[in-house]
Amino acid sequence: MTKRTVKDVDVAGKRVLVRVDFNVPQDEQGGISDDSRIRAVLPTIEHLLEQHARIIVCSHLGRPGGVVDESLRLAPVGRRLAELLGRPVTALADCIGPEVEAAAAGMRAGEVVLLENLRFHPGEEANDPGFAVALARPADLFVNDAFGASHRAHASIVGVPRLLPAVAGLLMERELDVLSNLLGDPEHPFGAVIGGAKLSSKLGMLESIVGRVDHLLIGGGMAATFFRSRGLNTGRSLVEEGRLEAVRRLEDEARARGVRLLLPSDVVVTERLDGEDGGRTVPAEAIPDGWAMADIGPRSIAAFSEALAGCRTVFWNGPMGVFEQPAFAVGTRAIAAALARLGGVTVIGGGSTAEAVTEFGLADRMTFVSTGGGASLQFLAGEELPGVAALPER
Ligand code: 3PG
Repeated sequence: MTKRTVKDVDVAGKRVLVRVDFNVPQDEQGGISDDSRIRAVLPTIEHLLEQHARIIVCSHLGRPGGVVDESLRLAPVGRRLAELLGRPVTALADCIGPEVEAAAAGMRAGEVVLLENLRFHPGEEANDPGFAVALARPADLFVNDAFGASHRAHASIVGVPRLLPAVAGLLMERELDVLSNLLGDPEHPFGAVIGGAKLSSKLGMLESIVGRVDHLLIGGGMAATFFRSRGLNTGRSLVEEGRLEAVRRLEDEARARGVRLLLPSDVVVTERLDGEDGGRTVPAEAIPDGWAMADIGPRSIAAFSEALAGCRTVFWNGPMGVFEQPAFAVGTRAIAAALARLGGVTVIGGGSTAEAVTEFGLADRMTFVSTGGGASLQFLAGEELPGVAALPER
């Protein structure tokens, strides 16, 4: 990586503002259902502790829209961070203001405080210069370890690094290294498995990687738009009519480049997406009217697994079906298992794909699970992330 990192600077005794992405999934009781994003920044925080820095951690959680939302306070995240670090973490009641400044002024080396949710202030998302100044005021140095939020040009991501010496954290470094390698020099054969409901959010990434992969496997709800573009009946499945032309172009490009583009040959369809009817498997050409795709079928699983088995590098983004319902999680689980068996490099895009491999207990069997959902898509689409651009080169 070409950016300066936290290992390139002397942090001893300094007040270091560390932007992380603690936008963790929460269960219905407000508990943390997956703490991967907290674990992922431990190397940076532990490095700063070893170097006797004073650590001021900040993050957003959810989308409170610039007002205080009691269900999106960061205190529970602070408690989990304290457990994982094995030392106290003081959660403050705000992220800017006199109390934050007083707390920062009184910190000793090796202390950790966690600021309150940045998005309780409208200035964060508006990238308000005054808010950035207030956020930067108590600190001597800024570390961006929030890869997952670095596609947002928010005050804590792009405003603060204009005001303080700024470096990348160790998670940011690893994310950029792994994802850059997928765009740069991956070992071939290189396969990508792309799924999820919404094709439009992934089109840029698909257009970027189609020229780099040997196999492109399309599953999940987005396969419906591919089916429709081939003239198939898609029942009640969501089709993005405005993307049919883009899909045709993508298929043409794959053909021209000799990329093997695989669509599901059979799918599990349902009249109810709540999983109650369990669905039934039909050939992709025979989706009945009134039924919607909920998973890929067994023949597709076999074909996808076979294509993946020969790959030396695989990138996976997007579930194969409505995996939150056990009845429709079979395809997603099978892809996770196929990747876990693979000897090569396996990279999981963030968001729901990361949640799926974690839920299946297979995250440790992957080479790398990105903490960025939208950020990894934007990066792999070849677009610069504002938060990365804001960090100085080495
Ligand atoms: C994410 O979860 O992808 C990041 O934390 C960004 O969140 P946002 O989409 O609400 O900006």
